[in-house]
Amino acid sequence: MHLEKILQSQGFGSRKQCRSLIENGKVKVNDTPCSDPKANFSTDHLEFSVVGKAWQYREKVYIAMNKPTGFECSHNPQHHHSVFSLLPPQLIERGVQCVGRLDQDTTGLLLLTDDGAYLHALTHPRRHVPKRYRMTTHEPVTDTQIAQLEAGVELIGEKELLRAYQCQLEDSQTLSFTIHQGIYHQVKRMIAAVGNHVVALHREQIGQFELVDIAEGQWVYLNNEQQQLAKLDSP
Ligand code: URA
Repeated sequence: MHLEKILQSQGFGSRKQCRSLIENGKVKVNDTPCSDPKANFSTDHLEFSVVGKAWQYREKVYIAMNKPTGFECSHNPQHHHSVFSLLPPQLIERGVQCVGRLDQDTTGLLLLTDDGAYLHALTHPRRHVPKRYRMTTHEPVTDTQIAQLEAGVELIGEKELLRAYQCQLEDSQTLSFTIHQGIYHQVKRMIAAVGNHVVALHREQIGQFELVDIAEGQWVYLNNEQQQLAKLDSP
């Protein structure tokens, strides 16, 4: 692939902007300067740098972020920061989107990608990818509330009963459970439906992919195995 096209695909701007970066000597490929925009490179394991910063060629990107509170999953946030402000501009330029949304005050695992098919596979309502949340509630959680959540609760505007799977009470006001849909404010509305209130919400897992070793506000690229784990149903 031509170097200018490689740079463009990786989010470095228009073809013209990429050409100018290359012609101005700002680009190295596998540690060797290259000022020819039409130079051809194989994209397999390609490493390049732009203005001294190293990049690896990625056909598509798959990202796991530990979302902090106070960030909206939107390119046009209304009242808070955007989660996209935590990523380098090249990833925004290449069209990275959130795989489902978390509320601004929800923390934890957020996946982002520019692979439309992957995004669709994880968010399509019929796929029922499990998502595990841990929450702090305002009142102690009762056995009755757990039984109601496990049996399924009715939410206004939703046809099916929404069930909580694998409910675990860690202490009287810390509950975790898995849901199989991604309806607007689903966890908060389920807890409200049984007469309690969520005061803090954290997503721990999507599919079989768990959030570990990513500090709050940080993100990592997912490898192939991790991408597949996030798509998997419960064992
Ligand atoms: N359920 C909610 O209520 N909020 C979230 O952010 C995610 C799931």
